[in-house]
Amino acid sequence: MTDKIKNILNEQIREEMYSSNLYLAMAGRLESWNLKGMSNWMHIQAKEEHNHALGFFYFLLDRDEEPVIPAIAAPDLSGIKKASDVFAAALKHEQHITACIGKIYELAKEEKDHALESFIKWYIDEQVEEEANAKEISGKLSLVGDAGSSLYLLDQELAARTFVDFIPGKTAA
Ligand SMILES: [Fe+2]
Ligand SMILES: [Fe+2]
Repeated sequence: MTDKIKNILNEQIREEMYSSNLYLAMAGRLESWNLKGMSNWMHIQAKEEHNHALGFFYFLLDRDEEPVIPAIAAPDLSGIKKASDVFAAALKHEQHITACIGKIYELAKEEKDHALESFIKWYIDEQVEEEANAKEISGKLSLVGDAGSSLYLLDQELAARTFVDFIPGKTAA
């Protein structure tokens, strides 16, 4: 594995762990507003991001490289004043992650790393899903409004989400 690839994969461990911490912070913010269903949704999101980091962790190990666990910046919740702000920020963050994954795919092709090119495809598809989910919840919030009984009902809907423990490239599909 080239240094360029090793570095970008370790950098993506940092991105995914930051995502996990960001969503955990959002879960805390939502819970402090008594939005326990939305908080549940974000807790699950945080666990999924941790598993995304583990995907890169094990991919490095499987390719004979020791992953580097990085320092993670504190999550930035500035400007988040209501539920719709949370999901708008989540969408923006996922768009950033999509760009990161795209760079990994481009580098895999450039360096002719076929194993990475194959591995990263799961993440490319996942990002479509991640953006769609954040967009859907944001859309619903702007449709029904960000307060009162409609917010309460959407909160109840998001309480139903359950965690599927899946590590990309490791857990058998
Ligand atoms: Fe992720
Ligand atoms: Fe994500």
